[in-house]
Amino acid sequence: MASVVDTTSTPTNAFTTASTLAGKRVLLGVSAGIAAYKSALLVRLLKQAGCEVRVVMTSGAQAFITPLTLQALSGEPVRTSLLDPEAEAGMGHIELARWADVVLIAPATADLIARLAHGMADDLLTTLCLASEAPKMIAPAMNQAMWRHPATQRNVMQLQDDGWQQIGPAAGDQACGDVGPGRMSEPDAIFSAVTTLLTTPRANAPHVVITAGPTREALDPVRYISNHSSGKMGFALAAAAAAVGARVTLVSGPVNLPTPQGVTRIDVTSAEQMHAESQRLAPQASLFIGCAAVADYRSAAPAEHKLKKQDGNDTLTLTLVKNPDIIANIAALPAEQRPLVVGFAAETQDIQRYAQDKLTRKGLDMIVANDVSQAGLGFGSDQNAAWLLWRTAKGVESRTEAPQPKRQLAATIIHQALVLLSAKTPH
Ligand code: PMT
Repeated sequence: MASVVDTTSTPTNAFTTASTLAGKRVLLGVSAGIAAYKSALLVRLLKQAGCEVRVVMTSGAQAFITPLTLQALSGEPVRTSLLDPEAEAGMGHIELARWADVVLIAPATADLIARLAHGMADDLLTTLCLASEAPKMIAPAMNQAMWRHPATQRNVMQLQDDGWQQIGPAAGDQACGDVGPGRMSEPDAIFSAVTTLLTTPRANAPHVVITAGPTREALDPVRYISNHSSGKMGFALAAAAAAVGARVTLVSGPVNLPTPQGVTRIDVTSAEQMHAESQRLAPQASLFIGCAAVADYRSAAPAEHKLKKQDGNDTLTLTLVKNPDIIANIAALPAEQRPLVVGFAAETQDIQRYAQDKLTRKGLDMIVANDVSQAGLGFGSDQNAAWLLWRTAKGVESRTEAPQPKRQLAATIIHQALVLLSAKTPH
């Protein structure tokens, strides 16, 4: 996911503390997109909230909005060049990088995102981003095909792995006539996300517990029952949750993946171990997501020593016993301990009926159904498609997600879960 948070609702409000932005120092980077005109409104919102705002524009951005406009709104000179002796004499770029409480880039174009992802420092804005240790957020804005391009998705993932937070992009009509994801989030949604970033103490951020990967059920010391889960979907969810500021604990079965930036990882092997960790963590969590492909059964009596081939015996009979249903047990916790619970349904046929049944039978708030019989999707791949189904006060709502990178789908799932959480959490 790259993370896709739409602009119609701002789930980050679910965990915003009531505090003020007065005196907070926002370094606003503006790059060359048609959405640059919305940056003017963003500056106004930040100023009205009492922030100090200093704007840095890329050279291309100045073709879309003039520095004078943003200077008038921010009440500060707008910086456009790294090699400007006069501006450097006022506040040098390293000083400016240290000054910021937050670095916000809105709009962030595909080109700027690519340069940031590669750690370039070829203009003032990218140099400041490298030099600043403040939290950073991008609001991407570009044509839908550019947004969907694997190179952009790779770059966005890199920024997430580097700890950047992200708001949007939203989907809809684009200035170029296309329709799809890539519109910059609306200024009030960006303002809300920055407010959360600046005012939510880490300890107050929602705690999200995610299970990922397969489990392994030992038959003997060298053999086990398992499945094809690579952990990619669950790790993408962890990265997407961290990207919107959540505290994330990932309970992972055996996988070969690096831990996303800012995520606490607990490695387990068997379903029973995953169950124990989930039971321990879930009562303190706001949101529990069961993405792991948990083995439904384990050997009733794993052999102490390697099972030997029996001469003259062409068959081997194993007795299996049921594993605990981790997610159903979390969903059944007493109300004061129960997080919002999101499950997955891996199906090969009749997806909607089976998913609906699991939503009800396991007592979940939301389920993400994926068809694991389709080549290139589901198990092991970088892409997935899904049918999201969630309960509301009025009944059940759903949406379909076409094949897309798992990181992108993960952002949509996290967004939807946070919308449900904000409806549940009084604030
Ligand atoms: O890991 P990847 O290679 O990226 O692949 C992703 C995925 C296909 C594994 C993922 O998208 C997915 O579908 N995960 C759920 C797999 C699964 O076990 O589905 P299920 O329909 O059998 O289980 C339904 C739900 O119950 C799931 O939330 C599962 O985590 C949970 N469960 C199942 C059994 C059990 N004993 N305990 C559980 O908590």
